[in-house]
Amino acid sequence: MIDKNEAVAKFYNRFPYPNYPLLARPRWQDGFLTSSFFSGRLAAQARNGKSQQNAPRGDVLVAGCGEILPYIIRKWEPLDATVVNIDLSGRSLRRARFRTMLTRGKSEFHETDIVSFLDRCGAETRTFAHIETFGMLHHMSDPAPAVEGMARQLAPGGTLRVMVYNSPARDWIHALQDYFEEIGLSIHNNDPLKAVKKCREILDRFAVRSPLLGNRMRALGSSTMGNPARVADTFLHPRELRWPISRWFELFSSAGLRLTGIYDRYGELDDLPNPLLAGGSKLDWDYELTIRAADRRLEGNLELIWTKPPKPGTHALVSTVTRSAEHLTRLKFMGPPHIWFDFEETRDLSTARKMQIWHAFIDARKLVPSAWGKNHRTLQRLARLGAILPDQLDPENAKIAAAPREDQMSPPDIPHHVPLAQTDDHGPHAVAVRKLDAGLVSSSSCS
Ligand SMILES: C[S@@+](CC[C@H](N)C(=O)[O-])C[C@H]1O[C@@H](n2cnc3c(N)ncnc32)[C@H](O)[C@@H]1O
Repeated sequence: MIDKNEAVAKFYNRFPYPNYPLLARPRWQDGFLTSSFFSGRLAAQARNGKSQQNAPRGDVLVAGCGEILPYIIRKWEPLDATVVNIDLSGRSLRRARFRTMLTRGKSEFHETDIVSFLDRCGAETRTFAHIETFGMLHHMSDPAPAVEGMARQLAPGGTLRVMVYNSPARDWIHALQDYFEEIGLSIHNNDPLKAVKKCREILDRFAVRSPLLGNRMRALGSSTMGNPARVADTFLHPRELRWPISRWFELFSSAGLRLTGIYDRYGELDDLPNPLLAGGSKLDWDYELTIRAADRRLEGNLELIWTKPPKPGTHALVSTVTRSAEHLTRLKFMGPPHIWFDFEETRDLSTARKMQIWHAFIDARKLVPSAWGKNHRTLQRLARLGAILPDQLDPENAKIAAAPREDQMSPPDIPHHVPLAQTDDHGPHAVAVRKLDAGLVSSSSCS
C-alpha cells in the first residue's frame, strides 16, 4: 500500500497537469485572473478607492502549481516579485521550469509537500503578497494545515485565490470513480496509458447506453475527454475529497480570511447580486451556493478570492507601494483576458472599446456608459467577470453593476439514467455495475 501523498505525486509524475505539449504556445491570456494585480484590484474595492492600484506587492506563492501556471503567472507578475512554485510532482516542476526558461523575472521551484514548505516559511518569516492555489486542496487528505499555513504566511492585506471542486455537482463522477476502483482499474495497478484507454472505452460504452452519462460527458467536452491526463485526473485520481461547500467556507473563514469575491465564470449565479463583490454584501453566500449546487443550477467549480484583513489600525498593507509605471504599461500591452469578451453580451464590443475597458481597468480609471455601449446587461456581465469594478463607476451605474441580472435561474435539463446492469448479468463486475447504477440514479434525481 503506498502512502497517499506518494500516490498523488506518482499520479502527477505520470500525468502532469494539464499536460499541454511542451512546445505549444499556452493560452496565457486568461491567466490575468490568477494575478496578484487582479485580486488586489478586487480587494481594494472594500477599501473605498484611492489605493486601487496598490495591490499588495511582494512574492507570489503558487501552491500545487502543476506544469503550466508557473509560466502563466510569471508573465503577469511584476519583475521584482519572485514567483514561488510548489508541487509534489518533480516531473511537473521540470516541465514548468523548462517553460519559464525564457521568461523574465525570478522563479523558484520546490518539490515538496505544501504544508512542509509553509512550515519552513514560518520558521524563516517569509510572507507572500498573493497566493494562488488552483485545484490542489481537494487532493489532500486534510487541507486544514495547508489553509492555516497559507493564511499565516499571507501578508496583511494580501490575497488568496483558490479553486476547489464543487463536490455536490460531481456526484456522477464520484459514482464512476468508485466503479473504476471496484473493478481494479487504476493507474497504479496497470500500465497507466492502457488504464486510461480502457477507462475511455468503458465511458464511451456507458455513454451510448445511458442518456445521463452521454449528456454529462458531452458537457465535460473534448478538452477533458480528449486529453488522457484530464481523463485520469477526473476518473482515476487516487484521492479526491467529497466535501460540502460549507466545509470549505468554514475552513477559510476560521483561518482568519475574509471572502472578497466569487468568480462566476459560467454565469450560473445571475439571479444573485454580483458574486464578485460578495465581500461587500450581507448575503449568506455559502447557503446560496449550496442550494444551487444541490439542484444543479451551479455546476462550475468554486473559484474564491479571499483577503487577509490588515492589522487593526492600518487600512492596507504596510509595505504597499503603487505598481511601477513600467509594470502597468507591460500589462496594457498584454491585452485583456479572453473570458471578458466571450459572452454574447460582450462579444460584439468593438476592439477599441475592449481596449478602452482593459486600459481603464489597469489604471482604475472611471468609465462612461459609451464604453459598454450604454447597455445595462453588458455592464452587468463585465462587472461579474471583473472587467469593470465599482471604483470605475458613478454611484448609479455601480448599483446596476452590483444588482442581480435575472429574477431566477433554472436548473439544466439533465436526462435520466438508464441502468447499465442487465438482469441476467452475473459477470465478475455485476455488483460494481449495480452500485454504479444506484449512484447514477440518485445523482440524476437532484435534491
Ligand atoms: C489538478 S493539478 C492543478 C495544477 C495547477 N494548479 C493548474 O491549475 O494547472 C493539482 C496539483 O497539485 C499538486 N499537489 C497535490 N497535493 C499536493 C501537496 N500536498 N503539496 C504540493 N502539491 C500538491 C499535484 O502534484 C498537482 O500538480
